[in-house]
Amino acid sequence: MNCEVELFSDVETLIREERPRHPVYCIYPHIYRDAAIEFLTGFPGRVLYAVKSNPDPRVLGLLSDAGVRHFDCASLAEIELVDTVVPNAKKYFMTPVRIRGDAATAQKKHDVRHFVVDHLSGLSQLLTEIEPDRSVIFARMAVHHESAFEDLSTRFGALPEQVPELLEAIRDSGAEAALAFNVGSSVTDPEAYRHGVSVTRSILEQLSFRLRLIDVGGGYPKSYPGFIVPTLDEYFSAVAESVATLPLADNAEVLGEPGRALSAPGMSAVVEVLLRKDNRLYINDGMFGIFWLLRIDGPDAFPVRAYRSGEPILSETMEFQINGPTCDSTDTLPGLVQLPDDIGPGDHLEFGNIGAYSIGGRTDYNGYYSDRIVLITSPDANPPTVP
Ligand SMILES: Cc1ncc(COP(=O)(O)O)c(C=O)c1O
Repeated sequence: MNCEVELFSDVETLIREERPRHPVYCIYPHIYRDAAIEFLTGFPGRVLYAVKSNPDPRVLGLLSDAGVRHFDCASLAEIELVDTVVPNAKKYFMTPVRIRGDAATAQKKHDVRHFVVDHLSGLSQLLTEIEPDRSVIFARMAVHHESAFEDLSTRFGALPEQVPELLEAIRDSGAEAALAFNVGSSVTDPEAYRHGVSVTRSILEQLSFRLRLIDVGGGYPKSYPGFIVPTLDEYFSAVAESVATLPLADNAEVLGEPGRALSAPGMSAVVEVLLRKDNRLYINDGMFGIFWLLRIDGPDAFPVRAYRSGEPILSETMEFQINGPTCDSTDTLPGLVQLPDDIGPGDHLEFGNIGAYSIGGRTDYNGYYSDRIVLITSPDANPPTVP
């Protein structure tokens, strides 16, 4: 894949040289590397990057360069993408709903061996497409915890009482049976993972055989303004300590599917202020563009920095409401943002921590869309972050 990308030493240079009129999304390679290394060294098991959280090929390449070898894919298109960018990576088809024929193609063409089901009917469908004796099939269990934003147990996941039957059926098919759950996204309390594992225990105790693989899903959060979360280490300990007590096979392994924790910190969005009306700013990106995630419960703002002609603006700050450029009445960012009190049209803002659930999912509604992604090369350059 041609991943050619423009290079700038830092955002100041980008703004000084170009005063970009359209949004520019900036990748900070050293931040992606650090995020990957922190997760790979801390998580007590196999790390599968959740591609959906940021499928940009350069991001996939940077995470892979830092050591990520396993990729949680939600579609055949994501599997094909990973195959192109990271040819020797291991792909996992981790969704219970697939386009007809895609599981077969994933296995035949891309050597995918890991699949997910959450119902007996889904299992029979899957078995028409794959060879069970080459496959691991996860039964996805519905678990939720009150500390998680975005409940991932309502659309997918078998009820815990249905899971033993599903696991027995997987095993009877000739495939290796395994168990997966997702406690949610932006999980604000590591206890949520202990809860998921304790529900898992009650299921394992009902089985006539032992499982080798337990997938504790994604959900590891990042801090945003007004949304401060525990450190990753606290989540890693919760997973390690609780999984260690499970009755599993001797060669057991735990899998995790982090999306946001890996993809959020290394990307920023540089946008221009188009109009100021008192404390209301209108910018060239919005809720139908890079900020669409803010429609979902959870963090309501991103860390931000302001620039005039490429220099940071250092005036006193005040609260602003930020609006996108479209005519839609919902195109307003939910959180108020502290910015210099003299900010105005032609100034630029850099929003940090923007890499998760942003690039994939933006639309060209009203004709506003930017696909300009650049690389920031200076290892001393850092995007705005939450202290
Ligand atoms: C099955 C699955 N795995 C992993 C993730 C990644 O979650 P997060 O980005 O919160 O780590 C998601 C998010 O929707 C998911 O649905």
